[in-house]
Amino acid sequence: MRILVVGGGGREHALCWAISASPLCTKLYCAPGNAGIAQVAECIKVGTEDIPGQVALAQRLKIDFVVIGPDAPLVAGMADGFTAAGIKVFGPSKKAAQLEGSKSFTKELCRRHNIPTAAYERFTDVALAEAYIKAEGAPIVVKADGLAAGKGVIVAETVDQALEAVRDMLSGNRFGAAGAAVVIEEFMEGEEVSLFALSDGEHVLPLVGAQDHKRAFDGDKGPNTGGMGAYSPVPLLDAAMTERALREIVLPTVRAMKAEGIPFKGVLYAGLMIDKNGPRLVEYNCRFGDPECQVLMMRLKSDIVPALMACADGGLKHFDLRWSDETALTVILATKGYPDAYQKGSEIKNLAAAGKVEGVEIFHAGTNADGARILANGGRVLNVSAMAPTVEEARNRAYRAVDLIDWPEGFCRRDIAWRAVARRP
Ligand code: AMP
Ligand code: GLY
Repeated sequence: MRILVVGGGGREHALCWAISASPLCTKLYCAPGNAGIAQVAECIKVGTEDIPGQVALAQRLKIDFVVIGPDAPLVAGMADGFTAAGIKVFGPSKKAAQLEGSKSFTKELCRRHNIPTAAYERFTDVALAEAYIKAEGAPIVVKADGLAAGKGVIVAETVDQALEAVRDMLSGNRFGAAGAAVVIEEFMEGEEVSLFALSDGEHVLPLVGAQDHKRAFDGDKGPNTGGMGAYSPVPLLDAAMTERALREIVLPTVRAMKAEGIPFKGVLYAGLMIDKNGPRLVEYNCRFGDPECQVLMMRLKSDIVPALMACADGGLKHFDLRWSDETALTVILATKGYPDAYQKGSEIKNLAAAGKVEGVEIFHAGTNADGARILANGGRVLNVSAMAPTVEEARNRAYRAVDLIDWPEGFCRRDIAWRAVARRP
């Protein structure tokens, strides 16, 4: 099969790495890809959000199967574009991608189907939103309804912060159309984990869980980012908790989507908050997490291609995937300044030596090749990933590789997986 992966980040590098190992894959393309992806796939410069461009590319390359990595093209309807062209695709339709693209769509679905999540209300009117915040008090969470590149959520510690956030969003100053409606919800305490499951619209194949680190700096300090590191498995998400989250949250969602005529086909990424009463849904995403995908792909022992295809074709019921019991962990090397302004184009040296550390795999998230030189080309630049029998050893291996990389313009967190390490006897 000739396979095309859409995207150019660390998630897509990990997907390409796993897909290129499949005996079913005869030729792998990635658009636009990056310097690391180019080691396992032929990269072609077509943008992630260019739906007609990607469809035309797949037609020209006679692609049999497309895997869409990022959320923005899915929410914009890229899967429908491929389907209309008669090309098999992994990723939900535009309507089903509302699970990520519209916070109120998901909250309303949860309300209709009794899926546990934070109490909420949706507003387009500033005065009503303000009155609600004043009545509820703080802490309280204000979210732009639409997709806002991971930045549309304000966890307000005070009523004043929450008021400022709704005024900002509803006035259209921030997030544009994505902030034309807001969801205001109860602040949930607990520990956050991500659970992944494939679905063919009817059946669910649970994958495994992972834990992300959203803040930029050690100790969960600093601004929110797309994710500075992840690891899997997560001790809190043991077999019993996973079973419960599937039964109470994921399965009812897949059933509800089917019953409402918008079957979800693809990977459902459930962001969960777990406290003493069990799991509640924070949010859904309609694609693999980045960097969670990187640790999932490292632990996956089975061929991923037939499972991804079954999401499109049905028949996921008969699937079983095997996972390593070891811990996979990834550390994000980002350009200094990220998630705010940063410079592109600095050179990264000594990657080859770092990649030779035992158990280590380096995925590229934002790089460019300039001849033999590798240049930083984004905020999140490298995902230094490692596997080992224990979380401590996986972490040691990853940081050993990080320390071999010569890139003064980069930074990383030094405490990835701190919760799992703290839990160890
Ligand atoms: P989201 O974009 O919905 O994932 O939200 C970004 C982050 O905000 C989440 O990963 C949580 O850490 C936090 N968050 C979102 N909703 C809530 C909530 N209701 N209670 C507490 N934290 C939340
Ligand atoms: N790592 C968070 C996300 O992919 O949304």
